[in-house]
Amino acid sequence: MLCTWRTSDLRLLLTLIVFLVVVNTSLSVPVDTKAVFDCPPIPLTSVVVTTWQIILRDKLSCTRAYRRDRNETKEGNCTDERIIWASRPDENLALQIDPVATTHDGFYMCQMVTPDGNFHRGYHLQVLVPPEVTLLQSKNGTAVCRAAAGKPAAQISWTPEGDCVTEREHWANGTVTIQSTCRWEDHPLSNVSCSVSHVTGNKSLSLELTQG
Ligand SMILES: *[C@@H]1O[C@H](CO)[C@@H](O)[C@H](O)[C@H]1NC(C)=O
Ligand SMILES: *[C@@H]1O[C@H](CO)[C@@H](O)[C@H](O)[C@H]1NC(C)=O
Ligand SMILES: *[C@@H]1O[C@H](CO)[C@@H](O)[C@H](O)[C@H]1NC(C)=O
Ligand SMILES: *[C@@H]1O[C@H](CO)[C@@H](O)[C@H](O)[C@H]1NC(C)=O
Ligand SMILES: *[C@@H]1O[C@H](CO)[C@@H](O)[C@H](O)[C@H]1NC(C)=O
Ligand SMILES: *[C@@H]1O[C@H](CO)[C@@H](O)[C@H](O)[C@H]1NC(C)=O
Repeated sequence: MLCTWRTSDLRLLLTLIVFLVVVNTSLSVPVDTKAVFDCPPIPLTSVVVTTWQIILRDKLSCTRAYRRDRNETKEGNCTDERIIWASRPDENLALQIDPVATTHDGFYMCQMVTPDGNFHRGYHLQVLVPPEVTLLQSKNGTAVCRAAAGKPAAQISWTPEGDCVTEREHWANGTVTIQSTCRWEDHPLSNVSCSVSHVTGNKSLSLELTQG
């Protein structure tokens, strides 16, 4: 009797702790790497059914489920071979994406059904793409710094500061190209540098401006 009480108390406590701790997590993952999402930390033996829901671009794209009593997996509309169970679901219920692509931006939720209730854990995934940075001098004495196809958009700054025009171009895959074109009327022969800051890492390039 005492033992039963203790077990149910523990279960209640576990349930409360998990409900308090569980929040949706935001994750930023570089493109072309591997991402792994974990389910709530519930003992696997107490889980009846686990379902991963994958919501890309605001609509349900696919589900993957595992039913423990039958040791059986099911999937609904999962056509992307890069989104799979990280391991054998009878041992580990994590989901993995390998490799991550820009199309994988979205919400990933693990839902576990247990005799003590349902548990959820969600991940908002943002895929990062480092921009390709170039610095060139154009014919008429202006310098052009370009941070191509970064996600999110990069920021460009110059040393020394010049008279600059910045253009942005948004691509269908969510990346943005930023191009800054500058001239330095007062310093026709100077050494200029362009700094590109981005969550995946900053980069700085220098150029000696020549005339003619
Ligand atoms: C579940 O099924 C897989 C094969 O589909 C098998 O390798 C594994 O041993 C089974 N696990 C259990 C706990 O029965
Ligand atoms: C699969 O996609 C169809 C059509 O979009 C939808 O009606 C159905 O509910 C989906 N099934 C699952 C299991 O997600
Ligand atoms: C040359 O400079 C003019 C403005 O002074 C600008 O409109 C034009 O785009 C520049 N050409 C090149 C190739 O940078
Ligand atoms: C995104 O699209 C742009 C323009 O088509 C392309 O240059 C870039 O390589 C793409 N990036 C990724 C990560 O798919
Ligand atoms: C231009 O600046 C860069 C970085 O500050 C430096 O490494 C380079 O030597 C400079 N070039 C000249 C010609 O001054
Ligand atoms: C990149 O630059 C930004 C501002 O320019 C700075 O806040 C950030 O700490 C830098 N990041 C790294 C990794 O150096």
